[in-house]
Amino acid sequence: MDDENKTINDFGRQWSIYRDNEGFYGSMKLFSDIISPFLNADKIMDCRVAEIGSGTGRIVNMLLEAGAKYVVALEPSDAFELLCRNIKQPEKVICLKITGEELPAYGDLDYVFSIGVLHHIPDPKPVVEAAFDALRPGGHLLVWLYGKEGNSLFLALVRPLRALTKRLPHFLLAFLVEIMYWPLVLYIKLCHWLPLPLREYMLPVLERMSPEKRRLIIYDQLSPEYAKYYTRFDAEKLLSDGKFENVQIHHRHGYSWTVIGTKPFI
Ligand SMILES: C[S@@+](CC[C@H](N)C(=O)[O-])C[C@H]1O[C@@H](n2cnc3c(N)ncnc32)[C@H](O)[C@@H]1O
Repeated sequence: MDDENKTINDFGRQWSIYRDNEGFYGSMKLFSDIISPFLNADKIMDCRVAEIGSGTGRIVNMLLEAGAKYVVALEPSDAFELLCRNIKQPEKVICLKITGEELPAYGDLDYVFSIGVLHHIPDPKPVVEAAFDALRPGGHLLVWLYGKEGNSLFLALVRPLRALTKRLPHFLLAFLVEIMYWPLVLYIKLCHWLPLPLREYMLPVLERMSPEKRRLIIYDQLSPEYAKYYTRFDAEKLLSDGKFENVQIHHRHGYSWTVIGTKPFI
């Protein structure tokens, strides 16, 4: 099995364990944080939207709560059935069990979102091209990606660990997550007092997650076969190479990239 399909399988397993979107993890507060500073939730009102890589549907439900006219939700993994079940306004959602590059070329969408997905796809170029073809001229693609800058200590620890953890069966990985959970809680507490790496992420985001969602986030870092940490240059290039214009980038919480681009009118 190639890296792309192995990664999709890994997410199918992950979402069979972490099934819901409760609390801050699935909240409009977090949605506003993810899409800022380029958009606010009001911009989504009455828009035609797609999300590539919907997982268990938290972003789809956020888009619906923001007033989207309808949402096309793509999820290729075995989490597809769970996604369909978790959606709060099913009459406004088209769920498709396909990969990002298979997104139909609707040509009339106002926004395509892909949150935490493209860094798990070894060749994301066809996905960006499919998003381009699905948008109307003047429509926007917004992606959120893991960043390389701001993550050096984290990557020094996690990269070698991932070589092992992505091969572990679930029960061993879950055990490791449990062991790592308590040092993480301590680290978050220390961030209140010390200027530690990733503090800008720990306090406004991770501290507000429930214990279950913090465990999910550890699991999510250790389980998928493929994960790329983007430099600023590569993150911008991903959209500009895909013919998007007015590409803007934001270093979210000092550890990740939010990138938005617009499909030109001609
Ligand atoms: C980290 S999760 C993000 C889920 C959701 N966007 C969220 O923020 O909650 C990444 C998702 O991308 C999906 N995925 C992986 N490869 C994909 C591909 N080639 N096309 C579309 N989705 C993909 C996975 O199955 C997984 O559900």
